[in-house]
Amino acid sequence: MKVTLDELKAKPMPQHIAIIMDGNGRWAKSKGLMRVAGHRVGVQALKNTIIALDELGIGHLTVYAFSTENWKRSKDEVDALMELITEFINKEIDYLDEKGVRVNPIGDISALSPKAFDSISYAKEKTKHNSHIVFNVALNYGGRQEIVRAAKAICEDVKRDALQIEDIDEALFSSYLYTAGQPDPDLVIRSSGELRISNFLLWQIAYSEFWITNILWPDFKKEDLWQAVWEYQNRDRRYGGVSK
Ligand code: FPP
Repeated sequence: MKVTLDELKAKPMPQHIAIIMDGNGRWAKSKGLMRVAGHRVGVQALKNTIIALDELGIGHLTVYAFSTENWKRSKDEVDALMELITEFINKEIDYLDEKGVRVNPIGDISALSPKAFDSISYAKEKTKHNSHIVFNVALNYGGRQEIVRAAKAICEDVKRDALQIEDIDEALFSSYLYTAGQPDPDLVIRSSGELRISNFLLWQIAYSEFWITNILWPDFKKEDLWQAVWEYQNRDRRYGGVSK
């Protein structure tokens, strides 16, 4: 059954959606193209997803664009991904800014190519006052790395007496993560059918709902996002409790 925008809007929206945009390589291979062609069409799918999110009124999006493990790929592919990040920002920054999107890179961006680092830093600075959609772009991101980084920062603050050990609780720990101040993802979408989390937002997804689709990321359309949101809206989130 195809869901309509009115049906979706009649129910509470997820506040935050996180997406593992997987399957670019397989999409390209299935068409006899180079892997980078899949990433390129994947960027378009990402742009369409932002537009669709705006239409639904969802205020937080996190996408897994480059993991700490993605450095293991060929130099050509890593270079192409860095180039695509730069291209995406150059091409879309004005649009994103007009739409009130705050571009918020998460991860250790200092290791990106200098051009990718400069463009993502520029996008972050230019859009820092926007609040309509927070767009977290995970770049050189790993969930374990994020947790270790937070633990170290907390230790530093305890060491310099800015924080007492007794004050450390889940809320405080969350405030040391890249996503500080944001709601945790309500819904995690993974394309291409893989059934794993791949070191993505390990802390933040404790109670997230999952929606896995066999669709490869470059083929992901607005209707797929709608379907994911619809299924999310019809789930019973119990947070370890019992149904109301
Ligand atoms: C996974 O597909 C995808 C990635 C590792 C990169 C995702 C990046 C983009 C969509 C573009 C760059 C992002 C921005 C923000 C401009 P895969 O290559 O692992 O596919 P496979 O599993 O089929 O090989």
